[in-house]
Amino acid sequence: MFQITKALVTGASSGIGKGIADQLLGEGCEVFALSRRVLDENQFQKGGTLHQIACDITDEQSLIEAFDQIKEKTDRLDVLFSNAGFGIAGAIADTPKTQVIRQFDLNVFSAVEVIRKAIPLLETAGGRILLTSSVAAVVPLPFQSFYSATKASLNILAQTLDTELKPFGIRAIAVMPGDVSTNFTDHRDKKVCPVTHYGERCESSIARMEKDEREGTAPRVIAGKFIRIAKKNHPKPLYGLGFFYKCVLLLYKLLPVRLMNKLIALLYG
Ligand SMILES: NC(=O)c1ccc[n+]([C@@H]2O[C@H](COP(=O)([O-])OP(=O)(O)OC[C@H]3O[C@@H](n4cnc5c(N)ncnc54)[C@H](OP(=O)(O)O)[C@@H]3O)[C@@H](O)[C@H]2O)c1
Repeated sequence: MFQITKALVTGASSGIGKGIADQLLGEGCEVFALSRRVLDENQFQKGGTLHQIACDITDEQSLIEAFDQIKEKTDRLDVLFSNAGFGIAGAIADTPKTQVIRQFDLNVFSAVEVIRKAIPLLETAGGRILLTSSVAAVVPLPFQSFYSATKASLNILAQTLDTELKPFGIRAIAVMPGDVSTNFTDHRDKKVCPVTHYGERCESSIARMEKDEREGTAPRVIAGKFIRIAKKNHPKPLYGLGFFYKCVLLLYKLLPVRLMNKLIALLYG
């Protein structure tokens, strides 16, 4: 089993990232927790060593300063959990380029910057990079198409990173949860949902999605699965989480795309 003693978690102030940080702290690890908000330390699990660093990962200077702080305390990381993310909703026809850029900036471009900065620290330990992707990477969600596209990008990124970094002992893995009950739902930006008649089905589609999210798995359970994957000796580049979502991902491999798109249109179209 791969041993984790030092980890960096982005988006550790809430939801899945907080769950990962808490479990690692409970196991006695040293955790570098990056997010814009810094929580009262008492809100985290006791046990290991917690370094909370206030950082907006979309801000280049903020990220440079965060990594300076990390490198003052350690010259190695076992795992990077690249997890910070958010979602926007709206019809493609209604979504301005500024919103598309915001969506990709946090979920993809800034994740790449965090990964690039963490690679030298991970190399020392022959470490792992876990990217929080989503079932939405494979299931193209209407009215959340840019969110889906960011997560599809992370799946490709994990696979290419794994190929590029394996010779240096680093493994990269995209993990695809389904619905998880977190603040993600309340943080979804719906300001362009709907704007024109192209988005008139947006609100009902998103309402259905949000109901499923609120009834979704507890982030603590999902965090445990992330950590189990990170500790695997021979991890795969892609993982779906949970029996139901694994079946959905399998159907996407086996069934014709036209049929799957019809099903998605029935559910969320
Ligand atoms: N919830 C779901 O159903 C679900 C399903 C599949 C995948 N996911 C993915 O899981 C990941 C975690 O989401 P979650 O569900 O745990 O939602 P969440 O509770 O809203 O957590 C998001 C985390 O990202 C951080 N964050 C947001 N913007 C940031 C920025 N600019 N710089 C640094 N940190 C930032 C937030 O902290 P601050 O606000 O303090 O910065 C927070 O800690 C996301 O990538 C999401 O796409 C979620």
